[in-house]
Amino acid sequence: MYTANIGSRASGKKVTAPELRARKGADKITMVTAYDYTMARLVDEAGIDMILVGDSLGMVVQGLTNTIPVTLDEICYHGRAVTRGVSRAHVVGDMPFLSYQVSPIQAVESAGKMLKEGAFESVKLEGGEAFAEHVHRIVRAGIPVVGHVGLTPQSVHALGGFRVQGRSDDGADQIVRDARALEAAGAFCIVLEAIPPDVAARVTSELTVPTIGIGAGPSCDGQVLVCTDLLGLSRGPSPKFAKRFAELGDAAVAAFKQYADEVRGGEFPDAAHAYKPNRAEPIEEEPVASAGGIVVPFLR
Ligand code: KIV
Repeated sequence: MYTANIGSRASGKKVTAPELRARKGADKITMVTAYDYTMARLVDEAGIDMILVGDSLGMVVQGLTNTIPVTLDEICYHGRAVTRGVSRAHVVGDMPFLSYQVSPIQAVESAGKMLKEGAFESVKLEGGEAFAEHVHRIVRAGIPVVGHVGLTPQSVHALGGFRVQGRSDDGADQIVRDARALEAAGAFCIVLEAIPPDVAARVTSELTVPTIGIGAGPSCDGQVLVCTDLLGLSRGPSPKFAKRFAELGDAAVAAFKQYADEVRGGEFPDAAHAYKPNRAEPIEEEPVASAGGIVVPFLR
């Protein structure tokens, strides 16, 4: 069994679940997904409060059409990679489909594994009233829980697609009941996904714990986006709510093309990127920042 490898967490004051809960009505909470060490370091360096290792990794990393096949072991694997890159942000892991729905006992066991083997600091699970008991039991085991209501992508087949939720009065009332049940069960914040802004505003005003919106308008206590959407790395159409704050995908394609052109044209590698030919000289060994910032000795 793995033990949590906390890696480079020595620096910076960690953001904690109780602190985030207490932020209600004060500063907005920022959350971004990350799935690997390199991205996690960048997100953390930017001062984002929460990093979510979402089961969206099934679509973003694995190229699947939905999140259903993602496993607990895969979430833990990505959790270990992400947490090694984080010194400040609070790291949340998504509980995958069928890792908690079967029973409250299964939920506690899976959440426990995520802390022990994924190095997570809290877990997120989809669903409302029907899973309140599961949330309560996880919280009672000492594990902070983030709720998730509205569009719950693990229920894509039951919902008939990735559709906006809460458009009818009944649908909106159910979302409010779901969020209240999660709060009563002990969730320390609740993600609201793809619901009309007025419904999100109602939930936000009725709860004492923060709401974190994604496609839920500006009234939420915080916002979350998928990192590849935010950076403009994803290709094809983005959801309406996914503002692209950069176009790194286009920049990456341009860089790959330039690399290919320079290799084909014999311009790369040039002298600046090649070792000295004369081995009669003493070989210096000096630390070079490489491999995502890990300092490793390289022969010059
Ligand atoms: O899996 C995920 O990335 C999520 C966010 C969209 C909230 O659940």
